[in-house]
Amino acid sequence: MAIEILSTKRLEQMRKSREGTPMEAEKWFEPYGGELVNLLVNEERASVLREIAQSLPDIILNDRQLCDLELLGTGAFSPLKGFLNKADYEAVLDRMRLQNDMIWPIPICLDISETQARNLEAGQSICLRDPEGFLLAVLHLEDIWAVEREKEAMQIYRTLDRSHPGVHYLFDRGGDCYLGGKLEVLSLPLHFDFKQQRITPLEIRRLYAKLGWHKVVGFQTRNPIHRPQFEMTLLAMREAKANLLLLPIIGMTKPDDFDYYTRARSYRTVCNHYPPDSYILNLLPLATRMAGPREAILHTIIARNFGCTHFILGRDHGSPGLDDKNEPFYTHDEARKTAQDYSSDIGIVPVPFEEIAYLPFEDEYRPVDQVPDGTQTIALTGTDIRERVRSGRNVPEWATFPDVLEELRRSYPPPRKQGFTVFLTGLSGAGKSTIARILYSKFLEIGDRPVTLLDGDIVRQNLSSELGFSKEHRDINVRRIGFVASEITKNRGIAICAPIAPYEATREQIRSLIETYGGFVEVHVATPIEECERRDRKGMYAKARAGLIKGFTGVDDPYETPENPELRIDTTALRPDEAAREVLLLLGQKGYI
Ligand code: PPS
Repeated sequence: MAIEILSTKRLEQMRKSREGTPMEAEKWFEPYGGELVNLLVNEERASVLREIAQSLPDIILNDRQLCDLELLGTGAFSPLKGFLNKADYEAVLDRMRLQNDMIWPIPICLDISETQARNLEAGQSICLRDPEGFLLAVLHLEDIWAVEREKEAMQIYRTLDRSHPGVHYLFDRGGDCYLGGKLEVLSLPLHFDFKQQRITPLEIRRLYAKLGWHKVVGFQTRNPIHRPQFEMTLLAMREAKANLLLLPIIGMTKPDDFDYYTRARSYRTVCNHYPPDSYILNLLPLATRMAGPREAILHTIIARNFGCTHFILGRDHGSPGLDDKNEPFYTHDEARKTAQDYSSDIGIVPVPFEEIAYLPFEDEYRPVDQVPDGTQTIALTGTDIRERVRSGRNVPEWATFPDVLEELRRSYPPPRKQGFTVFLTGLSGAGKSTIARILYSKFLEIGDRPVTLLDGDIVRQNLSSELGFSKEHRDINVRRIGFVASEITKNRGIAICAPIAPYEATREQIRSLIETYGGFVEVHVATPIEECERRDRKGMYAKARAGLIKGFTGVDDPYETPENPELRIDTTALRPDEAAREVLLLLGQKGYI
């Protein structure tokens, strides 16, 4: 593989165009705002805070808030000293600046429900705890205000489309009110994994000093590092004459990304391909908002706080990709251009890159803007590779290192080795349980995975015996089934579920939970009510019609027809084994059996 990609002349031209800023070299190592924030209190102060904590109200932080707290606490979000107050929030939305006029692209506020907010008032202090109740920090509350959802979505994400993960959080998951104020941190969120790769900005600066590094180029990503990204980082190191800080994001990313354990292992593997002592790998607990241009600015600031002198800005930086209509949320060079425009305010040299393509005849990589006309190039995007891994298809060596691929395949085996859930939904008497029982026997006969049957009746006896049939209780029941099925799927078993599951939104929730771990096949057993009622094996329709059972699905309670099930089967004119065969055929087609 040829590594000599750019001519020396071209490299020199690029270097000159990027070093034309007046800042002195040592200035680069200063954090953004001049002072590296450290919100961790000393032991003496911590014991005072623990004492007063007993009389303070508590807020339990969710995953995203834990990530924000960690980056605030360690100074990765310098100059922020806590969650933004209202005036800063408005300044960030309106002007992309803090009140003191420093560039700040994304509001880092603490969202809570209206009910929680009602019991709080500005001026008081609040304990911030992790989900186990462990005290992490004390927030000195300056402001409480209502989230301006539409304005925030338009200013930060430039869209109201809920398929954008940031907008989805804002409208569907986040609280109604924000809290702002300074923080005193007693403990960073606890982590027990990859401890050697969790380095704070302060520690990393000490490392640079120890290693004698003077220039560092930062690279942030939420995807595995495949060959193009690897070649791009090498190129950037040569161009900037700098060492490399890899800052892969392991906080919250997109739900369909590879899980962070797998990615973290793949980063450790790819590092073996860099020259020794030329890089540091540091896992970044950032909860991405995927705000495209504004996200890229945030990443640039974080890189500066980690002491980077240079920062790589690739194609589609910080973007969630395509919306539901297959349109990109942001154009491919928007984030790069915006972050470049602000980089001198932030104090970092941008290293922008076009897409990197592979030239098969030359057996080398080049940015597409440096490929001579008429030269053949090929490329596989991160998404292409992810899909190939997940579906068990081949990934060529030029696209990703074989040892990286092996790491990804260990966690994401081909469908034949993945776990999966068959989720049968339909009216009472539609035939769900019968089909489920046949599938159960067939899977045991195949015998390559453990099989669990979660039939509606069995679950109601063993998992949900206290529940009735209100909408709320049905949702709890179905979510419990989904949770158990997701655990089984995660551990590469087969779960067969057969509840009525009358609500589409709940079914969709379960689907997205399970699809992160393996296969999900929704089978709508669409036998019409007339036939179910004619069968009436348990005599329940008769009781429901006689008014002896209230809220019976299909009689006086709704059943929302699945919009896009993988399979729809009407059992009116089918024998049970024929219906089960349709499911088995589909599973075979998808490669699961
Ligand atoms: S749900 O809606 O998914 O929580 O229902 P599920 O857990 O599958 O339970 C359905 C079985 O409970 C019996 N049953 C009722 N069904 C519907 N509505 C009402 N009000 C009701 N009360 C009792 C019924 O026998 C269902 O069994 P199946 O196996 O579906 O016939």
